[in-house]
Amino acid sequence: MTRVTDYLKLLIVAFLLGVSPQAASQTVISDETEAQKAERMQWWTEARLGMFIHWGLYSLGARHEWLMKIEGMTDAEYRRYFEVFDPDLYDPKQWAKAAKEAGFKWVVVTTKHHDGFSLWDTEYSDFKVTNTPYGKDLIKPFVEAFRSEGLRVGFYYSVIDWHHPDNRVDVLHPQWRNEDYVAKNMGRDQKKYIKFVRNQVRELMTNYGEITELWLDYSYPPGAFGDNPNRSSDQDWAFKTAEDWGSVELVKMVRKLQPGIVINDRLDLNDTPGGWDFVTPEQYQPREWPTLNGKRVAWEGVHTIGDSWGYFRGEPGWKSGRQLIGLVIDTVSKGGNLLINVGPTARGVFDEHAMDRLAALGRWMKYNNRSIYGNTQAPEGFKAPDNTLLTYNPRTNRLYIHVLEWPVLQAFYLDGFGGKVKYAQLLHDASELGFRDPYRSPELDEEIPENTIILDLPAQKPNVEIPVIELFLND
Ligand code: GLC
Repeated sequence: MTRVTDYLKLLIVAFLLGVSPQAASQTVISDETEAQKAERMQWWTEARLGMFIHWGLYSLGARHEWLMKIEGMTDAEYRRYFEVFDPDLYDPKQWAKAAKEAGFKWVVVTTKHHDGFSLWDTEYSDFKVTNTPYGKDLIKPFVEAFRSEGLRVGFYYSVIDWHHPDNRVDVLHPQWRNEDYVAKNMGRDQKKYIKFVRNQVRELMTNYGEITELWLDYSYPPGAFGDNPNRSSDQDWAFKTAEDWGSVELVKMVRKLQPGIVINDRLDLNDTPGGWDFVTPEQYQPREWPTLNGKRVAWEGVHTIGDSWGYFRGEPGWKSGRQLIGLVIDTVSKGGNLLINVGPTARGVFDEHAMDRLAALGRWMKYNNRSIYGNTQAPEGFKAPDNTLLTYNPRTNRLYIHVLEWPVLQAFYLDGFGGKVKYAQLLHDASELGFRDPYRSPELDEEIPENTIILDLPAQKPNVEIPVIELFLND
């Protein structure tokens, strides 16, 4: 009876609030206002370009960070990497310097990936760096080095764990096709695993100072794999949801320990207020600023430089420096952040491919970062000319045109810009660009919209990978 009245009350409240009864009864992790959230995320919204680092035992296999799964390795087989892990050339100061010079504002490092190996001296597992031949915590010096170069530090932590004995086996587990193994593991107590995750994340959130971003990776609720025959399964043990990770309590704890932190969206808490701060398109560029329920959401794209996240010897698919620069611009032009990933070798260095790309990025960022940091999507009404991308800094009221293909004609038509531009220049060298009304021939009926102007560009493309035009707008 009381239940019925409670439900009726809920319905009335839900109706008054304009939400579904299910939503009205839902868990709330944080009740901060939109304004408080915007303030907490301000550094993040302005920083725009971050570095991702995937490093661990898989760097020794050097053929994908998922090699344990891809090759169906047992724990015992994978252990050969644990026994020889010794990154003798590891010098995080050099990493931090390279990151700073390339223009990154923060870094996110894998503290534990799906293989379950911890890169710090955790109290809760023996499968950790301090028990390898290297014998020292990798995370402490990392955090110090990046901070002293002025970068913020974020952590990636995989809730997926192929090593921990209490994490229930599922379709992503390397042994999921091994019937004996699966049968033996059905009785595992996921609650113990949840406790382990919480303990480890507590260490990370307490022992390394201010952690500004956290990447928790990842969940696959029923239906997550569609009808992919290699993944989907009609077994209910195939999947992992917020319940399996103890997501709600985990995120609550993180927010309590690190009130300023920003958290990604992979713990299956999409409908829980405070359960996530930004969405994470991976290895693809959204066509436009991503929305949820009709509202634009904060987003952070993630891309590798090569094909995989961990170091992969001889991989062919390297993006060029120019492509990376293009990705940065494209992301900001749609109001997002970008993490570019580097997979250091097992000796502890960024390999030549990565260094080469970082140098190209740094050369461009040095002269053009004003169109990236603090920028977002251009306001309505400014139409990007062909082969260009626009970004906009709301604080300085300047608009940036990134010219992907230098025009063959010097007349560069800007629709929607008429009357809005005070001054124009090339960004990299602050050299003035003239602009004027287009010539409208009285004899021809060529239609040029009223608010179109022409920008006079030099015939020769400036010696910049992607030249940027800076427009000072009228107030
Ligand atoms: C995926 C992959 C993983 C990588 C991550 C980065 O979840 O499993 O290897 O760490 O995405 O976004």
